Amino acid sequence: MSAPELRVVSLPGDGIGPEVLAPALEVLATVADAAGLGLAVEEHPFGGAAIDALGEPAPARVIDACAGARAVLLGAVGGPKWDSVPAAIRPERGLLALRSELGVYANLRPARFFAPLADASPLRPERIQGADVLIVRELVGGIYFGEPRGEADDRGFNTMVYTRDEIRRVARVAFEAARTRQGRLLSVDKANVLEVMQLWRRTVTELSAEYPDVKLAHQYVDSCAMQLVSWPAELDVVVTGNLFGDILSDAAGALTGSLGMLPSASLGDGAALYEPIHGSAPDIAGAGVANPLGAILSVAMLAQYTLARPDLGRAVEAAVDAVLADGLRTRDIASGAASVVGTREMGDAVLDRLRRILDSDPR
Ligand code: IPM
Ligand code: MN
Repeated sequence: MSAPELRVVSLPGDGIGPEVLAPALEVLATVADAAGLGLAVEEHPFGGAAIDALGEPAPARVIDACAGARAVLLGAVGGPKWDSVPAAIRPERGLLALRSELGVYANLRPARFFAPLADASPLRPERIQGADVLIVRELVGGIYFGEPRGEADDRGFNTMVYTRDEIRRVARVAFEAARTRQGRLLSVDKANVLEVMQLWRRTVTELSAEYPDVKLAHQYVDSCAMQLVSWPAELDVVVTGNLFGDILSDAAGALTGSLGMLPSASLGDGAALYEPIHGSAPDIAGAGVANPLGAILSVAMLAQYTLARPDLGRAVEAAVDAVLADGLRTRDIASGAASVVGTREMGDAVLDRLRRILDSDPR
């Protein structure tokens, strides 16, 4: 009898996307094997690569393939090559269309302190020690998608709009996550200025009645930005809207010193989307020096959320921790004495560790 199959769509995209996805896919193959699953990976062009090959960043047949899979693994999209294409078909628009079509409304972006990388962070080690925050960003609504939008007659405009249901469903994901962590949820808004954020705050507060075990607090986004880089260890789960979550999650990158370390999972009711939060880094594309750990840690999240195998997710994280403890560094996280390796070497080292961890701990 053949093993049940895990169907995954791979979208390497642009710039360093293909480079970081290659080792991540090898890690995924090892994880699937450990879970007793056969792995079927289908690759499609996406973003700028799809503009070049098919004339648009998110062709319908690519979206359909994604929707039909259990999970989608994406590298990165965009680059200067497509800066002059019309706004409506920019690579970034393709990513927004994919998120929207998949209905992945909850974007989970964890950022934690890696002890061996304390030197790579611009923040003082004693402040980031022990920091472990999960940002839950609403991903398919808010000002990214609100109507009306446009630019005409020297006026540009977008609309920040949320419905009660949109707020509730993402807040629910955040409350559930807080339950499995330290039981603290911070809802971040701008309720002192924006009506839409008053609805946000009220709705999250109402939902909290269903989660008496989770301690809910509210904070304005400007103040939260300060807190993230001042006292990050005090944060547990943060839930916020699309634009604020975009900004705060980059700021959270300061905890590790490099966006290259940060993974993400985007969850809805169907196929889930996993992607490192870094961009396509055109300046280093093709050089083989990109950090694959954000992509690899996204596979750890796939194990946790799509496969419901948090143990395998933890095994991948442990493999990453181990290679960092061994002193391996890609350029972006190198500080001083550590040995600097390329994308492939870093990926191979993690894979080797992962296999040893899984072998020594048969499940
Ligand atoms: C991210 C990116 C995207 C976003 C861009 C590329 C559309 O910055 O995933 O954080 O703004 O959501
Ligand atoms: Mn961003």
